Amino acid sequence: MPKIAVLPGDGIGQEIIPEALKVLDAVLKNSGEQFQFQEYLIGGAAIDARGKALPEDTLAACKEADAVLLGAIGGPKWDTLPAQERPELGGLLALRKELELYANIRPIKMMPSLISSSALKEEIVRNVDMVVIRELTGGLYFGEKGRKEHPKAAYDVLVYTEEEIRRIVEFAFVLAGQRRKKLCSVDKANVLESSRFWREIVLDLAPQYPEVEVSQMYVDNAAMQLVRYPEQFDVIVTENMFGDILTDLASMLGGSIGMLASASMSGKKGLYEPAHGSAPDIAGQNKANPLATILSAAMMLKWTFGLNKEGQLIEDAVTKVLDQGYRTADLGGDPGRILGTRQMGDAVVDALR
Ligand code: NAD
Ligand code: IPM
Ligand code: MN
Repeated sequence: MPKIAVLPGDGIGQEIIPEALKVLDAVLKNSGEQFQFQEYLIGGAAIDARGKALPEDTLAACKEADAVLLGAIGGPKWDTLPAQERPELGGLLALRKELELYANIRPIKMMPSLISSSALKEEIVRNVDMVVIRELTGGLYFGEKGRKEHPKAAYDVLVYTEEEIRRIVEFAFVLAGQRRKKLCSVDKANVLESSRFWREIVLDLAPQYPEVEVSQMYVDNAAMQLVRYPEQFDVIVTENMFGDILTDLASMLGGSIGMLASASMSGKKGLYEPAHGSAPDIAGQNKANPLATILSAAMMLKWTFGLNKEGQLIEDAVTKVLDQGYRTADLGGDPGRILGTRQMGDAVVDALR
């Protein structure tokens, strides 16, 4: 039986994961598919209970599982711990590295009923449909870090091997070939050596994908273009931290960070998690939008298990609920139709029937 390791984590992670499980249960029951779901600790919850952000049994279970479904990690309670012990570095980044999840996929597609929730005008966002491929196990996050004395200084090294760049750029070319065949590689090649190396590899690979139109853009311009004319993008591929920043920005095109699903892949194996964090400001209040997590679960069914029909059923149910005017608070809209986290999960389950 396929195994899914479930890691709720911290803050709203504890609230949104049960909603995704509810939806998965409903869709899998209908289709007769059987999965084994098992919960494990990660992040601050794991530090509190077990003294470390990524306990051995969690890591072993994630290695053994076919897929991992994660809520969010982190929060003010653990912010003062030494960096390597924190939920971010010691938990999530360690897990991504251990599972070699180098390709992070973040799709941003305008849902027609959410146009008025977008931070931008309708004519700018109407046809937004892009995927950002963020390199996830290298770059600035994983290079050497340190401090120096005399004079006091701190550093984080941005380093990429040829192999690391090649595999993520290939991944993006293949995906672009399956979509509108436009790939934009985003970098800072006017300043950074690692970006100039990245550019060389993009140009080296391009002839193998003649059907894909390639462009290269500086990251500062890309941030501007994402709000000026976002419809120009089909697939974007970029360095780890550039992708982190650009995807939070791009999430607001679609209405809310609470809608942005993500998949972190290595072959068929994947870790599925919303792009947002543990939202300490609204945690425990039944306010969080569970849809990014529910849509991440749909990505899991499609990308790891090839259950395209079931994944699509979830996406269609989400669309239906939004078309009916139901919203969580982050999306704005008719105050009479604002639902809590649990009620939104229930509405998606109802829409599946
Ligand atoms: P955040 O994404 O948690 O929150 C940013 C803002 O967006 C907050 O106002 C929050 O209320 C809102 N928001 C986020 N998700 C929402 C949702 N589903 N529904 C409604 N509103 C939502 O980012 P932050 O505040 O910078 O970070 C908080 C903590 O989360 C930090 O410890 C950070 O390291 C961690 N974090 C974890 C992940 C992850 O687990 N993948 C991602 C980002 C941040
Ligand atoms: C994300 C998050 C993480 C990242 C943090 C929590 C380490 O912001 O998944 O986007 O920067 O990758
Ligand atoms: Mn982020």
